[in-house]
Amino acid sequence: MQRRHFIQHAGLLCAASAINLKGWSAQANWSYQLTAQAATLNLLPGGPTPALGYNGQFPAPVLRAKQGKPFRVEFTNLLTEPTTIHWHGLRIPNAMDGVPHFTQPPIQPGQRFVYEFTPKDAGTFWYHPHTNSLEQLSRGLMGVLIVEEARPLPFGEEIVLGLKDWLLNSDGSFAPFTSLRAAARVGTLGNITRVNGLETPQYTAQGLECLRLRIANMDNTRIYDIGCNMPAQIIALEGNPLKTPHPLEHHLLGPGMRVDLAIQLPREGQLQVFDQKGKLSYPIASVLISPPALDAKTPAASKAKALPKLAMNPIARPNLKQAKTIPLLFEWAGELSESSAEPKLWLINREGWAGGCEDMMPGHLPTPLFTCKKNGHYILDMHNASPYPHPVHMHGHTFLVYERDGVAVEPYFTDTILLLKYEKAKVAFVADNPGDWMFHCHIIEHMKTGFMGFFRVT
Ligand code: C2O
Ligand code: CU
Repeated sequence: MQRRHFIQHAGLLCAASAINLKGWSAQANWSYQLTAQAATLNLLPGGPTPALGYNGQFPAPVLRAKQGKPFRVEFTNLLTEPTTIHWHGLRIPNAMDGVPHFTQPPIQPGQRFVYEFTPKDAGTFWYHPHTNSLEQLSRGLMGVLIVEEARPLPFGEEIVLGLKDWLLNSDGSFAPFTSLRAAARVGTLGNITRVNGLETPQYTAQGLECLRLRIANMDNTRIYDIGCNMPAQIIALEGNPLKTPHPLEHHLLGPGMRVDLAIQLPREGQLQVFDQKGKLSYPIASVLISPPALDAKTPAASKAKALPKLAMNPIARPNLKQAKTIPLLFEWAGELSESSAEPKLWLINREGWAGGCEDMMPGHLPTPLFTCKKNGHYILDMHNASPYPHPVHMHGHTFLVYERDGVAVEPYFTDTILLLKYEKAKVAFVADNPGDWMFHCHIIEHMKTGFMGFFRVT
């Protein structure tokens, strides 16, 4: 579809500038009123799309919180079904984690719920329902949450790219969100590629500034391989700063994952962000770089600014020598019983989750995958024994990835690890957040067909 069409029909175009975030934080005050409600989007010229949106918008408002400062969302459910909000990647009290029947009762239509917590970690996070996830996420309920550093960093420019595709018929209606066949493989991919709800949007930035590009993959299924046409540094993964930033060649970003890039912009030009597939590059978004308004004549002032350095998040470092090892085997079940209402296609340690957490009945909690002592140190020895990649996500904790396929890697903290086909990985964490926490694949169809469990910290 041509861009011209989209713009005519969109009514969304203003979002392209709104999501360029300069000057946002001053107004925010870390306190929001948010609704989940029906939203009619014009994604295709053929007709409207009956979507759902936070505050009835897509993209949803980019919420900003401040590290170490209370954050509050007064949420009202204006949907016709229950929902909840999960704050993906944030280490917050269990009661705020947003898993229905599990950390809170589902929020019924018309009901209000106040989410309130103080983020410990700064970075790029996101928020989404954990209720009827396949449908609610497919229809557009999701948004980016930025936790600003306690000490502000001097990035002159900041741009957020929220990646989410849509699976639509030509009349704008939704095509089926899943099929058994797809759920047993890579999942159902969208057919309309969008960034912040737009087709290859173009943003603007001022030359010679440092740009922080926050990319969040909020898609149910699609794995991106992010690249760009200018030297860029990866400064944070899943919100968490890297000890040593490293140059971006290309970076695999699975569902639920985020990457922060820092780019010293040239005086002028065009930054292109790509999704790389083998030798081919597909544009995702671009940034038009225009010369600085007050173009300094001195050579010193006309040099690019130095990249700001991010402070590490205050995450307890697991001690690998004293840690207890927990094996986690991820497998494909192979039994495709078409008749079963809740097929178990995916297993963790030989068990498929007894129903999506959304459908979990109170009082019918399965046994935990593993149990941790509060402040205990644990190694998760993961093995993806399937021929498909899985972005494996853990609630309430951030873990250290230190070994992949038996090879030590530069350790980094994350909340989601993309395990490639047949890959093994060792990660470790300190179980310092008490409660029952979900543990699942973030390919939503995998999660819904067995690839889910929980762990308990007492
Ligand atoms: Cu984005 Cu259960 O998580
Ligand atoms: Cu998966």
